[in-house]
Amino acid sequence: MRVLVTGGAGFIGSNFVLRVAATRPHWQITVLDALTYAGDRANLEPVAGHIDFVEGNVASAEVVDRLVAATDMVVHFAAESHNDNSLSDPWPFVESNIIGTYRLLESVRRHGKRLHHTSTDEVYGDLDLDDPQRFTEATALNPSSPYSASKGAADLLVRAWVRSFGVRATVSNCSNNYGPFQHVEKFIPRQITNVLWGIRPKLYGQGRNVRDWIHVDDHNDAVVAIVEQGRMGETYLIGADGERDNRQIVSMILQLMGKPDDWFELVGDRPGHDLRYAIDSSKLRAETDWRPRYDDMRAGLRTTIDWYAVNEPWWHDAKLASERAYARIGR
Ligand code: NAD
Ligand code: DAU
Repeated sequence: MRVLVTGGAGFIGSNFVLRVAATRPHWQITVLDALTYAGDRANLEPVAGHIDFVEGNVASAEVVDRLVAATDMVVHFAAESHNDNSLSDPWPFVESNIIGTYRLLESVRRHGKRLHHTSTDEVYGDLDLDDPQRFTEATALNPSSPYSASKGAADLLVRAWVRSFGVRATVSNCSNNYGPFQHVEKFIPRQITNVLWGIRPKLYGQGRNVRDWIHVDDHNDAVVAIVEQGRMGETYLIGADGERDNRQIVSMILQLMGKPDDWFELVGDRPGHDLRYAIDSSKLRAETDWRPRYDDMRAGLRTTIDWYAVNEPWWHDAKLASERAYARIGR
C-alpha cells in the first residue's frame, strides 16, 4: 500500500512515520512537507532509506495532484498548529489548514483515493471546569481562535466532500499530545527546556486551564486503527482520559526535574484562552480495538524530559527563536 503522509516532518507526523515504518513495513511511505519552522527532516533520519521525501506545500495544487495520483491513501497532518502564532498572524493558518485541505480533497476526489484528515478537539470550543459533559462526535463546532477555526473549516470541507462527492474520507479530532520531537513553542517542551536552562516555567493566567493529555504514540496508534478499522465518512474523537490543569503539569515537571513546587511564574493570559477540553472517545473504543497504552502520565513525562535533556542540539536554536517571539508578546 502506498501512503502519502503530509506534514510528516513535524511532531505528530514524524512520530507517525517512525512508528508505521516499524509496525506496517508493507506501507510504502512518501512524506510531503513544506519544512516550515516546525518541520525538521532530521526527525526522519532513522527511516531515510525506506521512505520518499518531497519538500512542498500542501496548498500547491500541482504538487499535491502529482503525489495523490501516485498513492493509495493520504494521511493528512500538515498544518500550522500553534494557537499563539495564529493570534499574531492568521494567514498561514488559512492557507495551510483550509486551502491545503481543499487541495487534497479535490485531488483525492479526482483520483478516487482514500483520505484520513487529522484534526483537533479545539474545533468544539471549550467547556466549563465543572461541566460533567465531554466532547463527543455530536458536539457542535464552536472554535475560538484563528487556528481552531481553520481546523474546523477544514473538517467541514471534508464532511461536505464526503456527502456531496462520495469522497472516501475519515476525520479524527484528538486532544493535546505530548512526547518526543514536539516543538519547544508548545507548553510541555517549553517548560521542560526552561527548567533545563534554569528558567522558571511560565503559566498563562492563573494556570487553571485544563487540557486532556495523550501520548503521541497513542494518538498515532488510534489513527492507524481508524484507517484500518474505521467506517468511511465517519468522525472519531481520540482521547485517553488525561485531563489535568496546567499547574498540575508544571508541578509534575518540577518534581521530576528536582525543583521546588512553587518554582514557576504566572504571566499574561492568551487572548480568548480556551478553559477546558475533555474528550469522550467511546465511539473509537467501540468500533476499533484501540486502547491507550500510556496510562501513567508521570512515566510518559519522565521519558519526554529525558528525551529533551539528551537532544538539546535538536531544540537549541528553535528555543532561542521561540523565546524571542514570546518576549515580543510579553509571555
Ligand atoms: P507541527 O507544527 O509540529 O507540524 C506540522 C508539520 O506540517 C510541519 O512539519 C510543517 O513543516 C508541516 N506543514 C505546515 N504547513 C505546511 C504546508 N502548507 N504544506 C506542507 N507541510 C506543511 O504540528 P503537530 O503538532 O505535529 O500537528 C500535526 C497535525 O495534528 C495538525 O493537523 C494538528 O492540527 C493536529 N493535531 C495536533 C495536536 C497536538 O496536540 N499537537 C492535537 C490534535 C491534532
Ligand atoms: O487540543 C489539541 C491542541 O493542543 C492542538 O490542536 C494544537 O495543535 C496544540 O498546539 C495544542 O493546543 P493548546 O493551545 O492547548 O497547546 P499549547 O501547548 O499552546 O498550550 C497548552 C496549555 O498551556 C494552554 O492552556 C496554554 C498553556 N500555556 C502554554 C504555553 C506555551 C501556558 O500556560 N504557558 C505556556 O508557556
